[in-house]
Amino acid sequence: RPVWVLNGPNLGRLGRRQPEIYGTTTFAELAELCRGWGEALGLAVVVEQTNHEGVLLDRLNQAADEQVPVVLNAGAWTHYSYALYDACAQLEAPLVEVHLSDPAQRPEVFRHTSVITPHAAHVVAGLGVEGYRRALEHLAG
Ligand code: DQA
Repeated sequence: RPVWVLNGPNLGRLGRRQPEIYGTTTFAELAELCRGWGEALGLAVVVEQTNHEGVLLDRLNQAADEQVPVVLNAGAWTHYSYALYDACAQLEAPLVEVHLSDPAQRPEVFRHTSVITPHAAHVVAGLGVEGYRRALEHLAG
């Protein structure tokens, strides 16, 4: 079974980007971990990251067409992109929202809103890279 793990802006610098918040695991390592966890769960995991909102929207539209389950860390787009809200609304296969940090516990008020949560079957936040494993387990289970 295919699962797409889609990551939004600035997550390509994982490991180097504010490691006190997001940890020291690099994006390449995260991708490798996700593929391994997927394999153990019988999921064919494809991991992608983009800094371009339209690229993510194209992927989500494709996921809707092909009914592919999605694990989504949309980074800051989570908090304000109504195009992302609409893209997530179309999905029929389950969507799991993931954040490395827990946006609800962070001081910036803008992080306390998510356009994804209304469409998500499950939300994992504040568990770092481990959260991606939980998200994949949710989709496998
Ligand atoms: C994030 C949280 C967002 O608020 C932030 O904009 C990110 C990363 C997380 O994984 O904790 O880019 O989605």
